[in-house]
Amino acid sequence: MKRILVTGGAGFIGSHTLIELQQAGYEVVVVDNLDNSSETSLRRVQDITQKPVAFYQVDIRDRQGLCQVLEQHPCDACIHFAGLKAVGESVEKPWEYYENNISGTLTLLDVLRKHNCKNIIFSSSATVYGDPKEIPITENCPKGQCTNPYGWTKSMLEQVMMDIQKADPEWNVVLLRYFNPIGAHPSGTMGEDPNGIPNNLMPYITQVAIGKRAELGVFGNDYDTPDGTGVRDYIHVVDLARGHVCALKAIDRKCGLAIYNLGTGHGYSVLDVVNAFQKTNGVKVPYSIKPRRAGDIATCYSDPSKAERELGWKAEYGIEEMCRDSWRWQCQNPNGYKES
Ligand code: NAD
Ligand code: UFG
Repeated sequence: MKRILVTGGAGFIGSHTLIELQQAGYEVVVVDNLDNSSETSLRRVQDITQKPVAFYQVDIRDRQGLCQVLEQHPCDACIHFAGLKAVGESVEKPWEYYENNISGTLTLLDVLRKHNCKNIIFSSSATVYGDPKEIPITENCPKGQCTNPYGWTKSMLEQVMMDIQKADPEWNVVLLRYFNPIGAHPSGTMGEDPNGIPNNLMPYITQVAIGKRAELGVFGNDYDTPDGTGVRDYIHVVDLARGHVCALKAIDRKCGLAIYNLGTGHGYSVLDVVNAFQKTNGVKVPYSIKPRRAGDIATCYSDPSKAERELGWKAEYGIEEMCRDSWRWQCQNPNGYKES
């Protein structure tokens, strides 16, 4: 397998994955509509790898655009990151989320099969477990009730791809359920670049630490967890990116359908992350306790042993590296990919 179509490749996880793919010897073709990203991330990828990234500003709902790309660059597999991902926004704009994520993926799947590319790795999420029935969460844990339309798009698209693979066993479908990706490339030149007020914990922390925001709001300290704040399985984005390269191995051995959790297996509370960030980077992160955020659960962390057993993949970085690299990215790029 040689050439990989990467949808959403200009985004946070996609751009980091491009580096790992190129460094592993794959050729990459990116389609992204740049709705939540900038082409600068692709230039930074090329600076790091010294290899060209073929880029097309194409929406995955644009059948003709996708066909043109695949005709010009026949691909062996697709890694499908493209999608809208803001939980809160999905509650306000459910139609936009279902239309973009579901219509887009249906179009993509059809174009792929018509171009005889029946290998796909899909960015799913731990959110499909809902309030998990078991901790740590294994892939056998039943899927649950999602608390927002974004989560439902992931859950529904998993089902769509499972059914398509069942009906046509030529397909190889790898569903990767990510836990909480944070961190940034160790070079400090690539990282997460949220628009406006960050929804997620780590970008909020880095913006407080650099003085863009006054303090972090900790959403609830009365959960049934050791310190009362929410516990999550944070994973360094470079480890997550490498997980995709390993997942290509499952496709090589014609896995049919395969599902993997990508996490570290360790749970950290909000205050653990704040403390690790302060200690690692020697900066203060003022915070105050706020009410719980709607839809949040107390605890969510993975059992990642299936990915280690079957893919030979294991997260290597710990919370210190995640905090260090997030901070380096923030300091070197106070305005993200935008020019200051
Ligand atoms: P991101 O927003 O940085 O990247 C997604 C990319 O997809 C963006 O570059 C955006 O411009 C592009 N895109 C969106 N709709 C498109 C469309 N219709 N056509 C073409 N391009 C489109 O997000 P990310 O954090 O890199 O996430 C990548 C994937 O992983 C998403 O599917 C997301 O839902 C999933 N995921 C992310 C997390 C997380 O916490 N970051 C957790 C679990 C799953
Ligand atoms: N939190 C705060 N203050 C903030 C932001 C977050 O206290 O300003 C807390 C949350 O309450 C939660 C923890 O920090 O306890 C992590 O919150 P994030 O928003 O960073 O991440 P979530 O676990 O809520 O959700 C993330 C992604 C989802 C994905 C899910 C599981 O945003 O898309 O991980 O993969 F589905």
